[in-house]
Amino acid sequence: MAKARSQFICQNCGSVYSRWSGKCDGCGEWNTLVEENVDTGVAAAPGRRAAKGRAIELLPLAGEIAEAPRVPTGLGELDRVTGGGFVPGSAILVGGDPGIGKSTLLTQAAAELARAGRKVVYVSGEESPAQIRLRAQRLKAAEAGISLAAETNVENILATLADAADTALVIIDSIQTLWTDTVESAPGTVTQVRSCAQALIRHAKKTGTAVVLVGHVTKEGQIAGPRVVEHMVDAVLYFEGERGHHFRILRAVKNRFGPADEIGVFEMTGAGLSQVANPSQLFLGERSSSAPGAAVFAGMEGTRTVLVEIQALVAPSALGTPRRAVVGWDNARLSMVLAVLEARCGVRLGAHDVYLNVAGGYRITDPAADLAAAAALVSSLSGQALPADAVYFGELSLSGAVRPVIQPDQRLKEAAKLGFASAIMPPPREGAASVKDFECNPVSELADLVARIAVGGLDNEEQ
Ligand code: TYD
Ligand code: MG
Repeated sequence: MAKARSQFICQNCGSVYSRWSGKCDGCGEWNTLVEENVDTGVAAAPGRRAAKGRAIELLPLAGEIAEAPRVPTGLGELDRVTGGGFVPGSAILVGGDPGIGKSTLLTQAAAELARAGRKVVYVSGEESPAQIRLRAQRLKAAEAGISLAAETNVENILATLADAADTALVIIDSIQTLWTDTVESAPGTVTQVRSCAQALIRHAKKTGTAVVLVGHVTKEGQIAGPRVVEHMVDAVLYFEGERGHHFRILRAVKNRFGPADEIGVFEMTGAGLSQVANPSQLFLGERSSSAPGAAVFAGMEGTRTVLVEIQALVAPSALGTPRRAVVGWDNARLSMVLAVLEARCGVRLGAHDVYLNVAGGYRITDPAADLAAAAALVSSLSGQALPADAVYFGELSLSGAVRPVIQPDQRLKEAAKLGFASAIMPPPREGAASVKDFECNPVSELADLVARIAVGGLDNEEQ
């Protein structure tokens, strides 16, 4: 018998090492390397003895394509993110922090499908049937006709599915609890997660069943992050939200059958997730417009406009190294905006603590938020409240220039619809459409905006 070979695999990013070390060079995480036996692993599974290959038929690139049929779930927000429903034979990864509502969302989607007469199998490796039934009752999904299984062995699951032909959707909750006989490592390790995912994806392709894999994202790296299966699946959806807030955002980060960067917005209620058709109203609901340091940002998420409030607090610091804290936005972008304010606009922030918060637990990914963040920061520093009926958008360059962003017209339309009257934005292109009764204030340099906000209030400003 061949000697068992072992490797050290980073549980966070999947990098492989022949020796153990404390830190993974691939992703920089500590204590994520775990020894795994690879002799029986993924690489060795199919076609191991095929020494001599068979010729396959080469196909032309041009040819008939059947339009991918869809299985719409009836949950509009979910269908928007997947691009119109689940594609038969595809594999979808739904990732997110534990407790964010992945099982809830999928139970609701499964119930809708089952009510529409499709066969749905829900396999849980985490919860007992009693727990799942309890949730289903709460969601009024118990009578929908979903088939339930509590199982963690992939071979058993596949054997069960083989008997349940014409299944439209299989939900695996979660991929980290599964294990296969062919691999010796513990459940949740990279090798196990990969092998199990591969077996299930093969099943999906073979039978035309759509497979949804649930994956927990953990920072500690004790359990393999779902990132290691991201490249194997057809679509990756992340379910996010801040603890303590009831908004949840489903975000497509990869989609082979539809648009990526699309979002679906939900609200967690006592009876499950309810869909939010107009997220801006929700995010702006708790606004107090008279306080300095708040700017409304008109952002784009995929094809949809989302208006959110960016709040800044700039206060003199008692510390040698002032604090910079940001919630809901990229830390590096805040540093960049602060540097541009200092270097190009003479706004001194070196002795101030800076806090930036995006209201409602929303996370901004649109680069056009620079201008709104800068406006909020200057407003807080100068103590001058911004006009309550204005929205801000625009990307900043390091020179201090305000750069144009995508889809300005759509942002303006949405702002007008929600009762805003003006926008501070990059100079519009030639021939851009104007919105009725809406004032556009183009700024080409950040310094102009700073001067406008701080008239009489910004004693910190030089010159
Ligand atoms: P769950 O779907 O179990 O999360 P995940 O599968 O991502 O780990 O949801 C867990 C949270 O959602 C839990 O804290 C309770 C809350 N919840 C509600 O607020 N309302 C509901 O109707 C349900 C089913 C759950
Ligand atoms: Mg769960």
